[in-house]
Amino acid sequence: MTDPVRRQYEAYPYPERDPTQELQALTTGSPSHPLEIDHFIFGGKRDWSQPTRILVAGGGTGDALVMMAQIFADWCANVELHYLDMSQASREIAEARIAARGLSVTFHTGDLLTAPALGPFDYIDCCGVLHHLPDPDAGAAALAAALAPGGGMGLMVYAPYGRSGVYEMQDVLHTLVGGDSPSEQVVLARRFLEGLPHTSGLARNPFVADHIAAGDAGLYDLLLHSRDRAYDVDGVYDLLERAGLEMVSFVTPGQYNPLALIADEELRARAAALPVREASALAERIAGNIKTHVFYTVPQGTGAGRVAAPDGDAVPNILGVQCAALAKSIWDKGCVTLSIDGLTVQRRLPQDMAGIVTAIDGKRNLSSIARMLGWDDKTFMKKFANLYQPLNNYNLLRFSSRKELQT
Ligand SMILES: C[S@@+](CC[C@H](N)C(=O)[O-])C[C@H]1O[C@@H](n2cnc3c(N)ncnc32)[C@H](O)[C@@H]1O
Repeated sequence: MTDPVRRQYEAYPYPERDPTQELQALTTGSPSHPLEIDHFIFGGKRDWSQPTRILVAGGGTGDALVMMAQIFADWCANVELHYLDMSQASREIAEARIAARGLSVTFHTGDLLTAPALGPFDYIDCCGVLHHLPDPDAGAAALAAALAPGGGMGLMVYAPYGRSGVYEMQDVLHTLVGGDSPSEQVVLARRFLEGLPHTSGLARNPFVADHIAAGDAGLYDLLLHSRDRAYDVDGVYDLLERAGLEMVSFVTPGQYNPLALIADEELRARAAALPVREASALAERIAGNIKTHVFYTVPQGTGAGRVAAPDGDAVPNILGVQCAALAKSIWDKGCVTLSIDGLTVQRRLPQDMAGIVTAIDGKRNLSSIARMLGWDDKTFMKKFANLYQPLNNYNLLRFSSRKELQT
């Protein structure tokens, strides 16, 4: 095995997962939560009884795979899931997790560049993989070529500023321990980190500590990786353009809004005049805390109408937070507190928003919620916009009419 990246993931499948613990909890996240897929790729109105082919490219130990397999099974959705990874050791863990849940997936061991031969797919997940490829452009193009008409992808790539300190330390460790076996590198890296001066960029970056604490695979992935690059916002847009893709949306648009990060009125007005791409690039640089870019993308020229619109037919779903807790916070405090990557913002919300949150059950559409609360559609939509903006910005509300499939 000559490829050091393959050698790494055979020795340290990532993330570290124990299939014997599989039934204790379902790990959910972004990209590729089915509610997000519906919201960002299919306008929030996908008919999940129609056949849907999905690929998890570079599926690792199976987090996105298991999440999708379990949730789509719960929805009785007509989804055929495929897993592709070059690491046999990772595949074995993902397979054991799927087996523990009694779910069904087709597994492939091989290079991501072979994806078109397995396609076409209506949706492709590729989380934390492209930035490890020798030629990420070729990887993105291969995935784009594997898409079915109308399909789309959820991607995650590393971002530079939130990972400050990481790349210097990768260089240092490569020089000091790069010739050792993977297990020796981990031992030596831990010894090195014990004496790390507090002035180093890595020690000063609190956002990456969880990766080191996550165990040997996490440490290897963060600091000993032999092929790892980061994309700033412009880099992401350029990567997509070269692959014939277009940006649909970052999953947490609020993180990419410079207006939330600039206090001065005149400078806010200047930032407000910028096109979306430039504004997002500015926000990334100001906040400095974005470690990964998570976003949805579709073939160039097919982006219109992809993101769900909050119209009367749209069925809202709260995700990542309990409806009751959210409603209570709005009722008691008149605000929501939103926190992501160490940056916390508070948004004031009128108390009657608590009633709307309570009425969201993943089944009622916005028109029925309006009727239930005794508002006409026009008044309701105005009120709902106040709620939707912060919850959309922080990925807490997504539209999908999936519940109709449940028995
Ligand atoms: C950081 S892990 C991410 C795993 C998973 N996507 C997740 O987010 O939990 C990267 C994975 O990509 C796989 N990988 C890297 N390069 C690949 C390639 N060229 N073809 C297929 N898989 C690849 C590795 O084996 C590893 O399992």
